[in-house]
Amino acid sequence: MATMATATSSYNRMKEVKEFDESKIGVKGLSDSGITSIPRFFIQPPETLYDLKSSSTLTNIPIIDLADVSSSALRPKIVEQVKDAARTWGFFQVINHGVPVSVLEETINAIKAFHDQPHEVKAKFYKREEGQGVMYASNNDLYRAKAAAWHDSLQAWMGVRKAKVEDIPEICRKEVVAWDKSATEVAETVMELLSEGLGLEAGKFKELTFSDQRAFVGHCYPYCPQPELTVGITPHSDPGVVTVLSQNHVPGLQVKHGEEWVDVKPVPGGLIVNVGDFLQIISNGEYQSVQHRVLANSCKEARISIVIFYNLNKWKGDGYYGPLPELLSPEKPAIYRNFTMQEFHDNFYSKAIDNKSLIQKLEIQN
Ligand code: OGA
Ligand code: NI
Repeated sequence: MATMATATSSYNRMKEVKEFDESKIGVKGLSDSGITSIPRFFIQPPETLYDLKSSSTLTNIPIIDLADVSSSALRPKIVEQVKDAARTWGFFQVINHGVPVSVLEETINAIKAFHDQPHEVKAKFYKREEGQGVMYASNNDLYRAKAAAWHDSLQAWMGVRKAKVEDIPEICRKEVVAWDKSATEVAETVMELLSEGLGLEAGKFKELTFSDQRAFVGHCYPYCPQPELTVGITPHSDPGVVTVLSQNHVPGLQVKHGEEWVDVKPVPGGLIVNVGDFLQIISNGEYQSVQHRVLANSCKEARISIVIFYNLNKWKGDGYYGPLPELLSPEKPAIYRNFTMQEFHDNFYSKAIDNKSLIQKLEIQN
């Protein structure tokens, strides 16, 4: 008995995490090795696991048709739909956005091909240098999170902090560049609609350089032998302004709506857009950044998602960010205080991905 107690207490979590990281094998490698039980450091805390079982009666998030955005007669209705979805769901899918289905499919296939490569090939790209260049790793927050999640990611900075294009693995380089361009066009259209929804000029967010610091991420969620013990991505909100995402047909993404977790089902050719913490703050709480997660994949086929995260670069120039002054009045005072980019970064990089911790910190208590 005494030996068992010692064995249990001597479990050295950090050592195992480090060995996994240094092996550069990723969860894809673990999955492909045929393991039937997951390493202990992937087991999520009871509160996360308990919540996995909940199911929803709602069948999907709002779907918004952008076909008529250029029609001055029909645009106001689309503005209303986008505004409504951003206020009540924080998540929606757009269709008829102008990005050819071939761009989506080719990028998803190229990212799948990257993750499907043999260990020796991928290991050359494996590194942890957040906030710049190109990085391939399992769990960006591996050393900060309480428990690891069942995904690997390839990340590349675009926009003004752009990685050297030749550093993007050749197997997906052309596709990532094309997807970044297409997703950014859609993001610009959606940000115009969101800006109009706040009563501002369409170009306001572009003027505030919402897309200047953006990051591409190509996630792979391989088959997980014990999906009831872990997650694909832990519940979190996205820190930036807005996120544009496309996924293959393997399910797993869920959004919190009220007390329910709602499945985000792929619609053919649809793109998923969600509000980030930064947009909730600068819209003075008008638009909601919403918690979401990915379940650990129980299908034999890998789930793939291609994502672009949009972050502001410049602003009014005084170094402080906060609710847009145009939206404030004596009836609608600021509900968040101003903050610096340093504070934003310190908050993000000091802990695991989490749910709206920056927003909570900035709330003005009345
Ligand atoms: C994220 C995220 C969801 C997905 O990377 O922030 O929520 O489907 N991803 O990959
Ligand atoms: Ni997210």
